[in-house]
Amino acid sequence: MFDYINFILFATSTPILVNIAFRHPYSWLHTILLAQAFAVFFSFCSLIDAIFVQPFLFSSLRELPTAGQDPIWTRLFKEPTGDQLLRFMRQSPSSQIIRYFGVLNSERLLLTDPKDLKQVLDSEAYEFGRSYLIRRLLSPINGVDGQTPGPDNAVEILKWLEKTTFQVIVTAVFGTTTADIQTHIEDLLAEFRDAFSISSGLHAQAEMAWETILPSHLFFGLIPLDDVRKAKSSMQGIKAYCQKQIAKRRLEYTPESRKLPDKNILDTAIKSEDLSDEEILQLCTTFLATGYKTVSVAALLRTEVRRHFPAPGQAGSPPFKPDLLQNMPVLTAVCNETLRFAPLVHLTFREARTDILLSGSNQVVPEGTILAISPWAIHRSPVYWRGGESSVGFSSTSHTACPSPSTWDMTRWLLDKKGGARMQCSFMPFGRGPRSCIAETFARDEMAILLAALVGRFDFSFRSSGRDGNATPEDLRVSFGVAAKPVKLIVRAQPVDGW
Ligand SMILES: *[C@@H]1O[C@H](CO)[C@@H](O)[C@H](O)[C@H]1NC(C)=O
Repeated sequence: MFDYINFILFATSTPILVNIAFRHPYSWLHTILLAQAFAVFFSFCSLIDAIFVQPFLFSSLRELPTAGQDPIWTRLFKEPTGDQLLRFMRQSPSSQIIRYFGVLNSERLLLTDPKDLKQVLDSEAYEFGRSYLIRRLLSPINGVDGQTPGPDNAVEILKWLEKTTFQVIVTAVFGTTTADIQTHIEDLLAEFRDAFSISSGLHAQAEMAWETILPSHLFFGLIPLDDVRKAKSSMQGIKAYCQKQIAKRRLEYTPESRKLPDKNILDTAIKSEDLSDEEILQLCTTFLATGYKTVSVAALLRTEVRRHFPAPGQAGSPPFKPDLLQNMPVLTAVCNETLRFAPLVHLTFREARTDILLSGSNQVVPEGTILAISPWAIHRSPVYWRGGESSVGFSSTSHTACPSPSTWDMTRWLLDKKGGARMQCSFMPFGRGPRSCIAETFARDEMAILLAALVGRFDFSFRSSGRDGNATPEDLRVSFGVAAKPVKLIVRAQPVDGW
C-alpha cells in the first residue's frame, strides 16, 4: 500500500530544503505554501493514478476474467454487495477467480473455487491478513429509525429484536447479578446506536473509500465531523461503563468467590487472573459490540415449539435443557436455511501477505491483493448447492427434489442433513477456519431460542416491507452494511392462545 506519511514528508520537505540550499530566494511563507501545494498536487495525482491508471494499465492481474460493472462514476464510492457478487458469478460460471472493482475503483479478486476458499480461510489462513476493509468495518449496524407503532398490532420487529439481543449479550458479558445493568440498558443501547451509526450507509462507504488510498485517521482525526465526534464520545461512555463494572467486580473478587460457578464473561476473565484490566476492557467492549445484533426471521414452527418448549411463565413446567434444540428438526431447518439464504456476513475480505499461489485456480496473486469471499453468493450458487435441477432423469433421488438454492425453502434441510450442500465449504454463515466466528454456538442457540419464543406465542404476517409493501422473504430489500439486514420489516403480531 502507498506509504502516505513518507510521501507527505518528502513533498513538504523538498521545497524547504531547496529554499535553504539556494540561500532563501523565497520567503518562508511562500515556501510553506509551495510545499502544501506540492503535497496537494501529488495527492491528487496519486488518487488519479490509483483510480484510473493502475487498475487498467499496470495491474498484473488485468488478464483475469473481469466482471462487467456499471460505469465507473456511478459506483466510485460503492462496494459491490453480496447480490452483485452473485451476479458476477452467474455471468462467468466457469471462472475460478473473478476480478472486479470496489470503492475508488480498487481491484479485488472474488474467489469462487472451493480449494482456494479452503486455502485462504483455513489451511493457510495466516498467509492472509484480515484486510483493512474488514478491520474498519468490523462493527455492527446502526440503530433502527424511530417508527411510530402502527395500527392493527403492527410492530417494527427489528427494534424489538435489537433490544432483546442486546439484553442477551449484556447478560452474557456482565451476568444478571448486577441489577443496575437492566435499568441502564436503554441508555447503554442508545450509546451503542450512536457509536455504530457511523459505520453504516454513506459515511462508512466514504470512509472505506478513502481508506483504500490514504490512511483515513490522518483525515478523520482532523475534520471535526459531527458523527465522528458523537461516535467517539459514545464509545467513551461505553468504555466508562465497562470500566466501572470491571473495577466493581475486582473489588468483589475474593478467593472464595473464585469457587462460585462462572456465569458470565467478565467474572470468568477476572477469575482467570492473567488478563490486565485493559485487556478485559477490550474483551468486554468487543463482545458487546459484536453480539449487539444478530437477528433473523423465519417461518412458523409453532407446533414443534409448543411440543418441546415449556411455555414461558407457566408454573411447574420442566426446566429448559440445552439439548432440547437438537431434537427439533423444523426449528433447526428454519435456522439453517435462514443462515444459508441470508448470511449476516455477506462478504469478507482477506489481504495476501506475500506473493502466493492459489492452489485451486493455479493463480499467483501478488502481495497486497485484496481477496473477496462472499458467503452470500456462495450460499445461493448452484455450483455449491444441489437443487432446482429439472427432474428429467428417471432416477428420482432425494437430491433432485431439493429446492433451488436461490429461494428460501427450509425443506432442503429436512430432505438432507447437509441441506443439499455439494461441498464442505458450501455453508459458512460463521466463516471458516481459525478466524471463524468464536460465538457460533452462542449465536445459533440465541437465534433458535428467540425464534421459538416469538413463534410459539405469536402469529406473524408482513404488513409492509420489501417491494410493494407486500413482501415474501425473497422480496425483502436488504441493506448490505457490515452485516446484511432487512431495510425495513414491519410485521403484524397476533397472539395465539394456548401456550
Ligand atoms: C444446522 O443447525 C444445527 C443447529 O444449529 C447445527 O447443529 C447443524 O450443524 C447445522 N447444519 C449445518 C450443515 O451447519
